[in-house]
Amino acid sequence: MPFDASKANASNGAKLFKTRCAQCHTLDKGGSNKVGPNLHGLFGRKTGQVAGFTYTAANQNKGITWGEDTLFEYLENPKKYIPGTKMAFAGFKKEQDRNDVIAYLKDATK
Ligand code: HEC
Repeated sequence: MPFDASKANASNGAKLFKTRCAQCHTLDKGGSNKVGPNLHGLFGRKTGQVAGFTYTAANQNKGITWGEDTLFEYLENPKKYIPGTKMAFAGFKKEQDRNDVIAYLKDATK
């Protein structure tokens, strides 16, 4: 199953982001890099492009473009999608959680 906007609940996604991602990522334009890179402008961007953030070669060289479907696969199991990544997040096994957080990110990273 790919990302499905019709099933997504962005306000639940905001809660998930706050509890599962925000300790490592900011979303606002010009936001700081924390343990992970700032995610402003994520959609449509290639992997590993945030200035001033030191990525692993694995993340840098993945070479895909971030969007609904690549995020949907990545966030299920980041270490499977990018072997060697240093992102310490086990993944959202539930499709619903992935739909929700991606719907939130689409808007919140603009
Ligand atoms: C414990 C810290 C941590 C948590 C929690 C975390 N991340 Fe990350 N994230 C990172 C790090 C570190 C990287 C860079 C990985 C690398 O270079 O290998 C990263 C990379 C990413 C990237 C790739 C960015 C790019 O420019 O290529 C995305 C997208 C991302 N994280 C989204 C998320 C989302 C969404 C969540 C919550 C579901 C999350 N992360 C949770 C630390 C974290």
